[in-house]
Amino acid sequence: MRMIVRGARLLHTHGLSDVEVAEDGRIARVIPYDDQKEPPATGILIEAHGGLLSAPFVEPHIHLDTALTAGEPRPNASGTLWEGIACWTERKRTLTREDVIARATEVLRWQAAHGVLHVRTHCDITDPDLTALDALLEVRDRVRDFMTLQIVAFPQEGIVSFPGGEGLLREAVARGADVVGAIPHFEDTREDGVASLHTAFALAEEHGLRVDAHCDEIDDEQSRFVEVLATLAMRSGLRGRATASHTTAMGSYNGAYSYKLQRLLSRSGINLVSNPFANLGLQGRFDAYPKRRGLTQVKEMLAAGVNVAFGHDDVMDPWNALGTANPLQTALVGLYAAQLTGGDEVPLAFSMVTERAARVLGLAETEYGITAGAPASFVLLPAPTPEEAIRRQVRPRYVVSRGTVLAETPPAPTRLNWPGEPPSEVDFGRRLR
Ligand code: FE2
Repeated sequence: MRMIVRGARLLHTHGLSDVEVAEDGRIARVIPYDDQKEPPATGILIEAHGGLLSAPFVEPHIHLDTALTAGEPRPNASGTLWEGIACWTERKRTLTREDVIARATEVLRWQAAHGVLHVRTHCDITDPDLTALDALLEVRDRVRDFMTLQIVAFPQEGIVSFPGGEGLLREAVARGADVVGAIPHFEDTREDGVASLHTAFALAEEHGLRVDAHCDEIDDEQSRFVEVLATLAMRSGLRGRATASHTTAMGSYNGAYSYKLQRLLSRSGINLVSNPFANLGLQGRFDAYPKRRGLTQVKEMLAAGVNVAFGHDDVMDPWNALGTANPLQTALVGLYAAQLTGGDEVPLAFSMVTERAARVLGLAETEYGITAGAPASFVLLPAPTPEEAIRRQVRPRYVVSRGTVLAETPPAPTRLNWPGEPPSEVDFGRRLR
């Protein structure tokens, strides 16, 4: 054996388990833990001490091309979407291959440390030189042995309304983008928006790709492109292979239309990705009080059987000056924003940055999960349950990719000199007296 993880807690399994990793970097078998049994003399031994061993975190929506540009060339003083676009338009003119590679790689390093091994990034392709796309394609090749990077050809300024937009989208796909993007609500007219989705789906079908559109990211209750996207997904060969990201207008839809939409979306098999950081910050900016929260209908769509995941979206860029690309932070903010605060609902937030996000990327069930035959890619969390991992915002003790330890975080408890007591350690677990 190359590696054995002993005494780990697995999701959906009672008791503790051992996970054995074969020399080929795949999981050989998962067996019940026996504390009387001696550990093997060879191979890497990881004692889990009852920690949660989970399939790796999955980031379904990030913008690695814009990441780490906050303040360049100037800060977004108002924090609004519109000033953010103005800042990015200025910064975009100075993009170089080295600049994009350096920033994207830095964020991927952060993600690896957090246990994120599968990433879908959007990449603005409304640039005649496609500088960022070429740079991200290079990064994808550099990390492919230990991380999955899917690149969405994202037409930030439109497909139909932007001069040459469709040509750039086609060129991005020809150069190797994995997923076709769109931004229908940003197109000049409703008709342009519908046409842009038809173009995106036709191109995706032609090349056997998936679709992931920035869709209805606006507080306008009249923005209803998600119904077009869902219908195209149902009627094309892309059922289950299409994603609507953001869909914040859904937070303003009336009850009757929402009911219709829940039925349509559940039949269509599309995925939704909600990005709570960016949209809590950017939406509702034109409202007096009461001010809308500007999120999609997370809870309602989950209840309707739609696959919904949480994404981080922006990391230290003109639209979100903060962030470390930490999926447990996304889950925490997302669960409060979407009011997934009931007893059974908190673990849902964990699934939205793991299994549900994996479905957005289309990761095969045989390639994702703690099961014999799957790649030995997982995170060992210093917490027994998803709820505890989110509550304490733990960092994975180990991140293993295909049988190799990619990141390791030693425990670092705080030493407390509580008056009247001997020094003790605090790790924010519930103390038993
Ligand atoms: Fe986005």
